[in-house]
Amino acid sequence: MQINGSRSIWTAVLYILTLGRQVLAIELDVTDKDSIKNAANVATYAMMTYYTGNETGGIPGAFPTKWWEGSALLMALLNYWHFTGDDYYNDELSVALQWQGGDQGDYMPSNYSSFLGNDDQMFWGLAALTAAEYKLPDRSTGFSWLHLAQGTFNTQKARWDTTMCDGGLRWQIWAYEGSGYYLMNAVSNGGFFQLAARLYRYTNNTDYYDWAKKSWDWSTSVPLVNNKTWTIADSTDGQGGCANGDAVQWTYNYGIYMGGCAYLYAQTQDAYWLKCVNGLMDTLFSSFFTAKNDYIIEDWECEPTAQCNDNEILFKGLVVSWLANTALLIPSLYDEILAKLQSTAAGAAKSCSGNNNNTCGVAWYKQEWDGLQGMEAQISASNAFSVLMLKWLNGTDNAAPVTSTTGGNSTGDTNAGEDDNKGSSTNASPITTGDRAGAGILTAVFICGIVGMAVFMLLGP
Ligand SMILES: *[C@@H]1O[C@H](CO)[C@@H](O)[C@H](O)[C@H]1NC(C)=O
Ligand SMILES: *[C@@H]1O[C@H](CO)[C@@H](O)[C@H](O)[C@H]1NC(C)=O
Ligand SMILES: *[C@@H]1O[C@H](CO)[C@@H](O)[C@H](O)[C@H]1NC(C)=O
Ligand SMILES: *[C@@H]1O[C@H](CO)[C@@H](O)[C@H](O)[C@H]1NC(C)=O
Repeated sequence: MQINGSRSIWTAVLYILTLGRQVLAIELDVTDKDSIKNAANVATYAMMTYYTGNETGGIPGAFPTKWWEGSALLMALLNYWHFTGDDYYNDELSVALQWQGGDQGDYMPSNYSSFLGNDDQMFWGLAALTAAEYKLPDRSTGFSWLHLAQGTFNTQKARWDTTMCDGGLRWQIWAYEGSGYYLMNAVSNGGFFQLAARLYRYTNNTDYYDWAKKSWDWSTSVPLVNNKTWTIADSTDGQGGCANGDAVQWTYNYGIYMGGCAYLYAQTQDAYWLKCVNGLMDTLFSSFFTAKNDYIIEDWECEPTAQCNDNEILFKGLVVSWLANTALLIPSLYDEILAKLQSTAAGAAKSCSGNNNNTCGVAWYKQEWDGLQGMEAQISASNAFSVLMLKWLNGTDNAAPVTSTTGGNSTGDTNAGEDDNKGSSTNASPITTGDRAGAGILTAVFICGIVGMAVFMLLGP
């Protein structure tokens, strides 16, 4: 650089000052493969410093005080591998994803199952299904990825509740969990919807489609998903008969329903599901990726006041990964989605300038580190960087999530988890043929017992 005169000296000083700041942030060129891979690598490495499940004495995938977050971390690792091609973490990812499935393979492990919400379990089910769709090989022993997803689905299906609002899933699974047991929330129902939609696409089994449709129809019949304005409330009160939805707005509620619609459209080509994707994506973009923020995603319920809790910090990372897969599933949306992912990742990279070691912040729209740090911020940033690689994946073989007919070979079990009635204790679940058969067997055992006892008494000493 040539320096002539005082004006140029000031320019040089400014340049050096700015350079100083830039060195601290993750330098990201959103159009450059190596730059993206480097950013993803740095953010993911920092994320993994919070994970001790593969250390001696550690429990794979276990985060005792925030169990569901393990699934968010593993989903970020799946995305990291799928989009960048780096399989460095795959072994520990694979061990952890299977371990937390519990002894029935349905993500109701006994260490945690007494304290769960439907959404907690559902996110693990989605993570397992993501592994199947990305072709992470099943482990040689233990439950397969598809089984784990089906086990989650079956245990949730059994909790479909007709007592309060003529359908839907409650937020919390157990009555003793308090008021959350009486709330029907968007993410639990949207998650069940997305899980069913993706199981349908992966297996082509129409039972899953029927449940996805049933869940969608219910969600739009109560004030959760408005399919005219394409807005989504966070929850509705079951005790009030689901008369009113709240006004709370989160990115992931849009992302989770939009993602489900995208998989359904990809499999059915039914224009209704495309209308749903477009409707929800338009609201997501206009509300949370605003021009004022240079189109960087913002969960504005909590970011401006720096009041996001751990869960809320994870929402953005989930949303960007659902958007990336939507772009791969529906090529006509690719350009529009890629632009939003790029602007968002650019903001995230600037936020990764904390502690002189690329610690990432929470409020990416501020385009500088906001002083916050943690595993959750790293998980979301890892997702934001990894998915940018869709630019190179798009159009290649197996870029979009695969199905059992396009290379997916995870071996499932349609009855997974059906013997595990954890949480289906309400009288809510409609009696299915399976239940009737089960009841029949119990009655038969009971009658045999009585007859046996009578015979014993007659022949007894
Ligand atoms: C970055 O620095 C902070 C503060 O010293 C520390 O807590 C964190 O572990 C460091 N992160 C990495 C990836 O080294
Ligand atoms: C945990 O995973 C890291 C990264 O894959 C690896 O370097 C380390 O050896 C693993 N530790 C154990 C005990 O498996
Ligand atoms: C449950 O806790 C026990 C005891 O700490 C541990 O050995 C086991 O691995 C845990 N299981 C899961 C699924 O976390
Ligand atoms: C399933 O596919 C994966 C990934 O393509 C491969 O590594 C694995 O060997 C296959 N498994 C079987 C049982 O064919």
